[in-house]
Amino acid sequence: MRKRLALFGSGRGSNGEAIYKAIKGGHIEGEIVLIMSDRPNVDIVDKGRAWQIPVYVIEPTMYAQKEDWSQAMLDVLVTYTVDGVLLAGYMRILPPTFVQAYRENILNIHPSLLPAFTGLEAQKQALVKGVKYTGCTIHFVDEGMDTGPIIAQAVVPVYEDDTVDTLSTRILHEEHRIYPEAVRLFCKDALEIVESRVVIKKEATIR
Ligand code: GRF
Repeated sequence: MRKRLALFGSGRGSNGEAIYKAIKGGHIEGEIVLIMSDRPNVDIVDKGRAWQIPVYVIEPTMYAQKEDWSQAMLDVLVTYTVDGVLLAGYMRILPPTFVQAYRENILNIHPSLLPAFTGLEAQKQALVKGVKYTGCTIHFVDEGMDTGPIIAQAVVPVYEDDTVDTLSTRILHEEHRIYPEAVRLFCKDALEIVESRVVIKKEATIR
């Protein structure tokens, strides 16, 4: 059965677009049934409308309690019988009640080789630290910040003359490659969490 996916974003939406195209190309046994954003005037919202996918803007500032914000989002997801949540440039920490409701079914992308450089400005953190390699990580979301079990990673070199922009562009190229692949495996139920590690079931192979 095709998995019903909710795509969460806060900005540009290039990872969302890479996943959308992989679905359209027949590479992923899933469909994006809704787009959720915490901001109204951002590209991912426009893209969702152009793709004719229902878009929901739920801003946490509209709620006095975190739990109410969480419940408002969960109510939407239940209506669409969502199986999986894809965070793609979603710049909020999800409340624990939300994570618990979709445990092991929320994926995130982060622009570093986790566990290094969690949080904001991961590319800048890598440049400041002077690492020679960095990259990106797809992981399941738990209650921590960028701490959940790792599904896939890609490595990119850091050059001496890199700026945040040039490094981010090199990383983004890899993000667009590995995120659709991780979603493909997720939709095939090929990802298994064993203790804190993700095991890819034998019949599935990373392409
Ligand atoms: C990406 O670099 C992603 O790793 C990070 O935020 C950025 C989102 O870009 N979490 P986009 O909105 O997918 O273009």
